[in-house]
Amino acid sequence: MSEIDYSNKDFLRHPHPLLAQSATAGSLQQVKLPKIGRATLITGSDALIDFLKSPHRFTTNPDEVGKPNISSNAGYLPNLPTQSGNVLFQNGKDHRELKNKLDLALKQSGIKSIRPNVAKIADQLLENSVAIDKRNKNTRDIVTQFSQLLPILVMIELIGFPKTNAEEVLKWVLQITYPQGLLSAHKQRSAYKNLLELLTQIMSGSVETPTESLAAKLIAIDASSPIDNAHLAFFTLMASLASTSDLISLGCLTLIDHPQQLEQLQQDWTKASSAVEEVLRYAAPTQTTSARYALSNFEFHGHSFKKGDLAFGFLAASNMDPNTNESPMDFNISRTPIRQMSFGAGAHFCSGAQLAHIIAEVALQRLFSTWPNLQLANNTSGKDPIDWTIRFGTRRPSKMLVQF
Ligand code: HEM
Repeated sequence: MSEIDYSNKDFLRHPHPLLAQSATAGSLQQVKLPKIGRATLITGSDALIDFLKSPHRFTTNPDEVGKPNISSNAGYLPNLPTQSGNVLFQNGKDHRELKNKLDLALKQSGIKSIRPNVAKIADQLLENSVAIDKRNKNTRDIVTQFSQLLPILVMIELIGFPKTNAEEVLKWVLQITYPQGLLSAHKQRSAYKNLLELLTQIMSGSVETPTESLAAKLIAIDASSPIDNAHLAFFTLMASLASTSDLISLGCLTLIDHPQQLEQLQQDWTKASSAVEEVLRYAAPTQTTSARYALSNFEFHGHSFKKGDLAFGFLAASNMDPNTNESPMDFNISRTPIRQMSFGAGAHFCSGAQLAHIIAEVALQRLFSTWPNLQLANNTSGKDPIDWTIRFGTRRPSKMLVQF
């Protein structure tokens, strides 16, 4: 039984040796996780695919095996109740119906033509960013001033919140996703309530939304259930923000750490898609899937599971499996093919994979075109330029000071 603390700061800064060790030590790893307890991590890529495509063995819904919901301690999603809009907790026919509705609405809402708008928002954020260190005017916190805000502003528009509400929606979303300060829990609860109320008004037609928005498309597909639509839009919003922010921040960090790869990219931005794919593989923002629970007693890849046993797909480790990618510890944007598991697999495969890819490609291009010589800020005061949010299952910088 390993007692490695996967939320350790050194691990978060340089996770690759430990991930590679996990990937090669065997397909399954028994661990004791802080605050969570005993769990099995599925690390090898074959076992991981088998795990994610075995809904008859493992469920995402703790209610089905009488276990408490631990999503507040694990994975990347906030602690949402197991209500109708929570796609991840649904399984079987209910899940397929909900997911098909979401996927169709996302497709119809014009994600493919979203690039120019993402670029415009990214440029505005970079232009409006301000120096963090008074002694160095060229220092920025790329996380709070860019990576976090870009997906939020894109999603506010995509979902179709009225422009008149955009400012308060931004405030609520920040209070829910990145809670800070003394009254944060209270603010989070009331922001959650306000946001859900506004979404319900939009879905029931009492507040207008643009015809191309995700909300309008959800209503067009099924107008009979405004509350379900509101929960679905709310869940989608929550699932999209921190994960995409982490991808942008980690993309920035990984490219700064690999100047030759960055130079290749800067010489040819048609490589942006491959670069983001390789960032997803090498720097997986969502390190694990959400929790799964064994539905009965069975053997799986040489391990005996008992009903209710807890397991996570260790996506970040499986990306380091030498059986799927040669020299996996090398960050190489020209690798072909790039095999990564960072959006999961099977029925619960991420609905926002394409959108997140587009946002990250545009973000990195705008960032490194605006400030081609971007570096981590000098460590003059002895302070680490990066702060991490400690949460099992995520690799999330909460601050990253850069200079140009
Ligand atoms: C880099 C950014 C992102 C990463 C790394 C990511 C990762 C993931 C992963 C690993 C899962 C599967 C979880 C599991 O099986 O336990 C997932 C599910 C999901 N993601 Fe994402 N995601 C990202 C961005 C987004 C965006 C932008 C959206 C929405 C537009 C989104 C919406 C969802 C939804 C709705 C699910 C649940 C799907 C289901 O249960 O069928 N994600 N995501």
